[in-house]
Amino acid sequence: MKTFAILTSGGDAPGMNAAIRAAARTGFRNNVRMLGAMHGFRGLVEDDFIELDRRSISNIIQTGGSILRSSRCDEFETVEGRAKALENCRRRGVDGLILIGGDGTMKGALAFETEGSPPSVGLPGTIDNDIEGTEYTIGFDTAVNTALRAIDQIRDTAEAMERMFFIETMGRRSGAIALTAGIAGGGNVVIVPEIKTDIPKVAKTLLDDREAGATSLLVIVSEGDSAGGAYEIAAKVKELTGLDAHVTILGHIQRGGSPTAQDRIIASVLGVTAVEDLLAGRHGHLLGWKCHAVTRIPYAEARTSTSSLPVEILQHADMLIT
Ligand code: F6P
Repeated sequence: MKTFAILTSGGDAPGMNAAIRAAARTGFRNNVRMLGAMHGFRGLVEDDFIELDRRSISNIIQTGGSILRSSRCDEFETVEGRAKALENCRRRGVDGLILIGGDGTMKGALAFETEGSPPSVGLPGTIDNDIEGTEYTIGFDTAVNTALRAIDQIRDTAEAMERMFFIETMGRRSGAIALTAGIAGGGNVVIVPEIKTDIPKVAKTLLDDREAGATSLLVIVSEGDSAGGAYEIAAKVKELTGLDAHVTILGHIQRGGSPTAQDRIIASVLGVTAVEDLLAGRHGHLLGWKCHAVTRIPYAEARTSTSSLPVEILQHADMLIT
């Protein structure tokens, strides 16, 4: 009987539990013993595993977070830490690993495989949607919809009080959440790290929109922009426009919540495929999602994407945002 272990690493993302559930169910069906390593790579280093069974994976498809917990493990970034992890995997008889996380997780996976780890397959789990080679990461759609709900709610009060708001979204260095939720929410301006921010131009756009009759003004600011965060940008725009500026930082609400249908389904398909790949001897890659199908990206190529913005949306952004 084979033994596979699953872990979730880095920032948690809604849909990770759906992926765990799908992988475990596929394992059980194929007579594979399924373990969960707790707190990401830390579970491998510290030999902290749990046995998964039908019961532990039931009623989780609809939940955010991760039943296996998550963390960023500094020790796993060292050769010594990975040697401990390898020893624990060997002692536990782990024949395959399923690693769910972002680009940092795939970097760890590459180093670990190079040093002789059990065969592994990665799943893209991050709200940031910033991994090269995949159009989609598990959790992105839920985060966008959470941000969108917040934008809609802020618009209500902004409209009633005729105010200007700066709303900051997450994404580390990726503007994908801001652009997508900003366009869907009818923002006046969207500020993303991938495009150089021209503050006087932002100020002019807002004044023009106000002149044209816009009562509420919404600026969606992605974190990681070189012009600063929402507070800093709001202060600069206020100085140029003379308009009062309110700021809302959406923060970690974007990481939690019940995953959308899209996140659940893609996570489930990738979870099933991960186990099928390991059983078929395919490993050393991230499972991505491209043109509505599963794609395989070697770990070495699954880096942080330099521009994860959806091209189609970007091409029309000028017409849609202003
Ligand atoms: O990578 C996911 C993410 O939520 C980013 O969008 C954000 O910059 C970062 O993690 C926040 O990390 P932490 O939860 O450790 O503060």
